[in-house]
Amino acid sequence: MDLTALPKAELHVHVEGTLEPELVFALARRHGLTLPWADPDELRAGYEFSDLASFLKLYYDCMTVLRQGQDFCDLALAYLERAARDGVRRAEIFFDPQVHLDHGVPLAEQLAGLTDALAEAGRRWGIEGGYIMCFLRDLGPRSAERLWRLAEPWADRLLGVGLDSAEVGFPPEPFGPVFDQARRAGLHAVAHGGEEGPPSYVWGALDRLGAERVDHGLRCLEDPALVDRLVAERIPLTGCPFSNVRLRTVADLASHPLGRMLELGLQVCVNSDDPAYFGGYVGDNLEAVRQALGLSDRAVAQLCRNSILGSFAEPARRAQWLDELDQVSATAVTADPV
Ligand code: ADE
Ligand code: ZN
Repeated sequence: MDLTALPKAELHVHVEGTLEPELVFALARRHGLTLPWADPDELRAGYEFSDLASFLKLYYDCMTVLRQGQDFCDLALAYLERAARDGVRRAEIFFDPQVHLDHGVPLAEQLAGLTDALAEAGRRWGIEGGYIMCFLRDLGPRSAERLWRLAEPWADRLLGVGLDSAEVGFPPEPFGPVFDQARRAGLHAVAHGGEEGPPSYVWGALDRLGAERVDHGLRCLEDPALVDRLVAERIPLTGCPFSNVRLRTVADLASHPLGRMLELGLQVCVNSDDPAYFGGYVGDNLEAVRQALGLSDRAVAQLCRNSILGSFAEPARRAQWLDELDQVSATAVTADPV
């Protein structure tokens, strides 16, 4: 089965994580910045990570080249083109404004570039989506609240709020008040949880932040009561297999628990997280787990179905993609001689 023919949503991708080394160098040239690497190959050669913290250091360093709205537009448009080729119909994209504010880029400028890119991608490739503004958990709740005060006038440009960056030692509960404000402004709420952090952080994301989806959520498997809750409430888990291997939360793809999560009835889907750093986009992740875990066509179609069900798209759009998905997967099954 051609996986790119399956309609899907990408629910866990950081726009800054789609910054390919070639674009890092192009943007540095645009702004006359000097980089500590000789060329894109030397930068890429440094993409060896021992954990989330070792990745985040380089990830934040590379973001210094994002200086004006056009940079954000170029970045997001390149991602959306790539995603559309993978059969992504809808992309719900994270961004980390606190880092860019720190570099002197106003929120309005960031949002202008990102919004233009989605509009253009809709015209060119028919892909749709929205932006989820993330609070960096290691900067703490006061900084998150300052960001929210800046962002509130722009709430109609945002799909939701999220929580990302270093997880261990930064539980979700202190971010409860800022999430309350964002939800009251009509935004969706999602949060990273159970990537490196314990199951209690997933409970906290659900109970205190009102998270409608959990990003990663892998470590829920250590807590059967949490698995029961996630299954019963059909909480989507946005899995990122390449990321888990490259950040060493899972030893290799063959031991990734994605198949087991599907069997348990968890509403898990496949995403790319930071594809420029982890070796592939959503289609590459799907193809790799299919092979490594020996997933059936049915299981792969279920992963795509879960991504659509987990999205914040209009119900009519979701129904349309689900119909299309059923048709593509039924044709694939009848075309299969075995
Ligand atoms: N920011 C970008 N990628 C991330 C990840 N995998 N976990 C937490 N924060 C992130
Ligand atoms: Zn992530």
